Formats: sequence, C-alpha cells, structure tokens
Amino acid sequence: MGEFATRAVHVGQSHDPVTGAVVPPVTFASTYVMDEVGVPRAGYDYSRSGNPTRSDYEAALASLEEGERALAFPSGLSAEDTVLRALTRAGDSVVYSQDVYGGTFRLFNVLLPAEGKHAVGLDATDSGELRAAIFGNKPRVVWLETPSNPLLDVIDIAATAELAHSVGAFLVVDNTFATPAQQLPLKLGADVVVHSTTKSIGGHADLVGGAAVFAAGLELGRAGVSETGAVPDEAYWWQNATGAVPGPFDCWLGHRGLKTLQTRVRAAAGSALQIAAALTQLPQVAKVRYPGLAEHPGHEIATRQMSGFGQVVSFQVGDPDLAKAICEGTELFALAVSLGAVESLIEYPAAMTHPQKADTSAAIPADLVRLSIGLEDTGDLIADLSQAIARAVAKHG
Ligand SMILES: Cc1ncc(COP(=O)(O)O)c(C=O)c1O
Repeated sequence: MGEFATRAVHVGQSHDPVTGAVVPPVTFASTYVMDEVGVPRAGYDYSRSGNPTRSDYEAALASLEEGERALAFPSGLSAEDTVLRALTRAGDSVVYSQDVYGGTFRLFNVLLPAEGKHAVGLDATDSGELRAAIFGNKPRVVWLETPSNPLLDVIDIAATAELAHSVGAFLVVDNTFATPAQQLPLKLGADVVVHSTTKSIGGHADLVGGAAVFAAGLELGRAGVSETGAVPDEAYWWQNATGAVPGPFDCWLGHRGLKTLQTRVRAAAGSALQIAAALTQLPQVAKVRYPGLAEHPGHEIATRQMSGFGQVVSFQVGDPDLAKAICEGTELFALAVSLGAVESLIEYPAAMTHPQKADTSAAIPADLVRLSIGLEDTGDLIADLSQAIARAVAKHG
C-alpha cells in the first residue's frame, strides 16, 4: 500500500464500519461471545490469545519492518525472551555483540544459563573476532544490537547474516536505536528484528512495550535440527503459553507512535547530528560517539545500511565525576533512563542503565554520558549542554 509514511498511517487502521470512526476504537474486552461452542465470530476468543487492537498494531509493525508477521509484547525484554525461547533449546549457544542494553546482557548471562543454554559475547565490530566466534561456537542464534546501547557501535548486518547463515544460525537484530524509519535489518538478511517499543516507536515516554518481527518463510528446521514448523508460530506459542502479552491501550499507544515515527526520528536525528558535531568542538569532550560523524569507525557501514543515524549520542569526558556532574547539571535534558522520546534525556550508563556489566569485559567506560535527543530546538539543547559542561568543569575540572 505504498511507501513507509503511507503504511505508517494506514496499515491496520481501517475506519470503523459501524460508526465511521476514522480511528478504530480500542477493544478492551478480555473475552468474546460465541454463537456455537468453540466457534469464535471473528477468530478472537480471549485477549491473551488475540485482541483486535493488538492485531492491527502487529500488522503495522510487520509492514514497516517489511516482515511477514509481528508480535507485540509488554516490554522489549519480554520480546527478546520469547524470541530466545522460540529459537533455542538446552545445549544451544548464542553469539552476541557485547555492547547491548544491560537487561539484554542479564538475559544472556543469567537467564539463558539457567535453561542450559550458553551465551558468548564479543566485540562484534571486530569482524575477525565475530567470524571466529561464529565458526568456533556454531551457535543457533547470532544477536546484534546496531547501533548499540550505549557505545553506538555499528555492525555490518548483511555480512553478519551471511556468516550466521553459513553455520545454520538465525540472525536477530535489535533495531531499537535505528527504528524501521532508518534501518530495515530484514531486508539486509536478518531473520528476526526485536524492539523496545518503549523507545522511539512509543516516542513519548509514556509506554513500556516490545515487538518481534519475522522475515518471510522462516522455518525452525536448519542443518542438524530436526524440529519443524514456522518460527513465528513457535514464538506465538511461547507468547501465549507464558502470557507475555501487552494490554490493548498500550498497543493503541504504540500504533499511534508508529504514525509519526518517521517524522519524529528524522527531526531528532537531524538535531542529534548537529549536537554531536557541536560536542566535538568542545575541548572538555574527549570523544563523541555518533554514527553520523565521518570520524565514527562505523560511519561507512552506517551510511550503507541506515538512512539516518538515530537520536542517541554518547560522549566521553575523561573523568567519571565530571560525567556525573554534567548529567546533574542540565536544565532541558532530564536526568532519566530510556531514550527515543520527544523530551531530551541525559544519563550516566555505567550506573543507570548498564550496571549489570560492571566488572565484566563489557563494562561501560566510567566517563561516558548518553544523550537521547528529543524535539526541542537544537540551539537550546546545545546551549543547555554547553552550560552544564562549563558548570561541571568549574566544579570538577
Ligand atoms: C536497545 C534496547 N533493547 C532492549 C531494551 C529493553 O526494552 P524494555 O526496557 O522495553 O524491556 C532496551 C531498554 O532500554 C534497549 O535500550
């Protein structure tokens, strides 16, 4: 039905046939009448198993990520957990890029081992290391977060898909930072995309949600695997069996977020590029991490696989106390975890979003500050950061 912006507004949004309401009403019902035993009128019998508002939202998510089917979840972590349950069995291993969200790191390093599964994390920007880990471990799943949280690493999705497929592994990409408005992993060869829709898709810091989107024709059976069946059906089975479902109002909020996603992300990413460039000019800033900057080590790959560079910028200032003081010194940027909202946020990842990684090889640099750029005026945001940095330097510099 047309280009991204058109599908974002129209897929799953048929006008209500009874009242003519342009936006379909939210279906809050938990249960549905039947005229005959076991025969639901429209395929819905109970809202854990299916709900019309959720179905509409899932249709829009699948369309925008160019997948065959999407499942909506009550959080990003529940989407990740369900995808891992669907794709792996006891004895299987997962190879993952180690700069991932702290909660994802915990999932790999605490929950997977409890199920007899094994996770191997590595710096996936090193393609030699990635190749060795994939060929050495013969994993069932290769998992990438690109751009990554919070270091903004960029990993080549198409090249990793080829490597993963050569050993019969599925490639899962966390597309939270780029969003389908700026990166389409399934078109680059990934098998599954996961999202924290809490972030740019929800877009207004008023929703916790997640999603998984599956490439067309994805089957469980691979070399050396005797199981059969479609991967989305397996994931849906786990979702229904464990009850990992979002409520209808959250689905409606997520769907509303999709309608303005491209406009919001383009504007915020444009601002993020200007802010990243401005930060490189400040003598107190030792390193700026933003894939849109020509000096970013992943800039060439990012330019190839993304149509914009997202709304998150990180920077390092050489001193942990200075980094914390900057986070505490802004007036427009709110000191808060999360990202992707219309409001700009600032945070200190080592203690706030990634404490699970302390004392590991994936530990976050102690002088790192992460910004999520919102829709405020770019000049106002730069002025706010400049004054916070100047004040912090006066105190700690
Ligand atoms: C990249 C990324 N993936 C997944 C998650 C987890 O999502 P949620 O907090 O919605 O469970 C987050 C949360 O910050 C994230 O940043």
